[in-house]
Amino acid sequence: MNRQEIDIYVATAKGVYLYEAKQHSLKVIAAGDLRGLTGKQDYVKDAAVNLIYVADYSKMSAASDQVKEFYAAADTGFISENVYLYCASAGLATVVRAYIDIPQLSKAIKLRADQKIILAQSVGYGKSGR
Ligand SMILES: Cc1cc2nc3c(=O)[nH]c(=O)nc-3n(C[C@H](O)[C@H](O)[C@H](O)COP(=O)(O)O)c2cc1C
Repeated sequence: MNRQEIDIYVATAKGVYLYEAKQHSLKVIAAGDLRGLTGKQDYVKDAAVNLIYVADYSKMSAASDQVKEFYAAADTGFISENVYLYCASAGLATVVRAYIDIPQLSKAIKLRADQKIILAQSVGYGKSGR
């Protein structure tokens, strides 16, 4: 049904932004370096960019919770794979991640109760310099 329920939040050293696809622009959500909150592993704070995939369940209100979760997970998989393909073409390193303190990060990026973090994805420069 083309709900387009996945929003992409972008955490950099400067702040957290919501990517607005139609305008191709970033909207400021929180100032400051919150990259370390996007995962429970040390390396995430060093990646230049951490993407956070957030399902907006208000766009899928007719579906059951099980269906919402299934579509949101599948759609996030497609999006993150496209990020992998871009990173491969641009010589960037990337890791899709689920090991996240979801309540803490949800609060930091000011999510509503019907917005759910599905996965995060670090993008940066590999140590090998490839
Ligand atoms: C759904 C999903 C969740 C993952 N969560 C994490 C994670 O939280 N932290 C992590 O270091 N790797 C996580 N991984 C594994 C990495 O994304 C990656 O597959 C693994 O590091 C091997 O990558 P490489 O072949 O590029 O070295 C996850 C993978 C998937 C598919």
